[in-house]
Amino acid sequence: APDAKNLPPNVPDWSQTLGDGVVSRPYGRPSKFEADVVRRDVEWLTASRQSSVSFTPLHRLEGIITPNGLGFERHHGGIAEIDPAEHRLMIHGLVEKPLMLTLEDVKRFPRVNRIAFLECAANSGMEWKGAQLNGCQFTHGMIHCAMYTGVPLKRLLEEAGLRTNAKWLLPEGADAAAMTRSVPIEKALDDAIVAYAMNGEALYPEHGYPLRLVLPGWQGNMWVKWLRRIKVGDEPWHTREETSKYTALLPDGQARRFTWAMDAKSVITDPSPQAPLRGKGFTVLSGLAWSGRGAIRGVDVSLDGGRNWRAARLDGPVLDKALTRFYYEFDWNGDPLLLQSRAIDETGYVQPTKAALRQHRGLNSIYHNNGIQTWHVLPSGEIENVEVA
Ligand code: MTE
Repeated sequence: APDAKNLPPNVPDWSQTLGDGVVSRPYGRPSKFEADVVRRDVEWLTASRQSSVSFTPLHRLEGIITPNGLGFERHHGGIAEIDPAEHRLMIHGLVEKPLMLTLEDVKRFPRVNRIAFLECAANSGMEWKGAQLNGCQFTHGMIHCAMYTGVPLKRLLEEAGLRTNAKWLLPEGADAAAMTRSVPIEKALDDAIVAYAMNGEALYPEHGYPLRLVLPGWQGNMWVKWLRRIKVGDEPWHTREETSKYTALLPDGQARRFTWAMDAKSVITDPSPQAPLRGKGFTVLSGLAWSGRGAIRGVDVSLDGGRNWRAARLDGPVLDKALTRFYYEFDWNGDPLLLQSRAIDETGYVQPTKAALRQHRGLNSIYHNNGIQTWHVLPSGEIENVEVA
């Protein structure tokens, strides 16, 4: 309970002495009272922390931009700490003029700024077989959204001069995992960026400092961090990350491969299991929606497990392939609720139920689970992750 001497009309403790001076925090950080707003991991999920994932605390974030220190991380070989003076980006293969670029060279090319979400294809993967993790941080937190600054990849490829048979790219990371993925040339020439800044400052090491590939709308695995090499070829390479991983075995025995774009999806972030309801009466429900195929056209919300739907209110910028914030305000009478949200994107695609998704894809997958999430609100205001039939 608050100390009465700090409440009006008294003069609180912090008004009676001078505070710290400027530059006492040369790099600012949140109030110490926000110390619980951090990335978290799920210990049993992976055997080591070097090849693992941490999750964005979506339930405590507002708007559409994820602060750099809170965006989830997915590393296959730990965080590479790279001295930019010793880093090079090599572009070679089916090009007229192979390039070996320093970070300073990359900064001499014309720049673009682009807000985009990055979602890991495995986001919500632990939920394929049933409701499992209690919190949207864990069920949906393999996503972040930021403004990237960098050079259009197209511009760098023009500098190198693509040969006429150039059809695929192989970006490679400088981390111990040397991550590689095959990227079709059409995406590279469309909206791919070689980025060095995120939300106005240099990329953080965990997000690929000093250079990372940005592929708006496409699965995060392809956004190679610590980018050191792009090989140009005429066919895909079938690397580990696009054969044994990031593919999905369908019920008929066929595997889905090269599933690049992230389908429309949404989640109610507040309230959610880590952010219980604040009591009866006027209630603000807040959430995020996104689509790798364009802008969000609308979000519907249900309070009764999908029987009735009402239109949510989109607020803030509604951008192509970016997170979109939605709200739904209502009076809670204290009865149990089954909260759901459903995104619709500009192509007309409607986010499916988990049952519909499983009917098509079976139960062998971990990737691309964009099914509708259900939160069960108890009369106490506490919330559980559940599924409705
Ligand atoms: N790039 C390299 N070099 N090494 C990696 O381990 N992980 C990939 C991708 N790029 C990875 C990488 C995966 S699986 C994802 S989901 C995203 O980076 C995660 O990006 P983030 O850590 O910035 O959230």
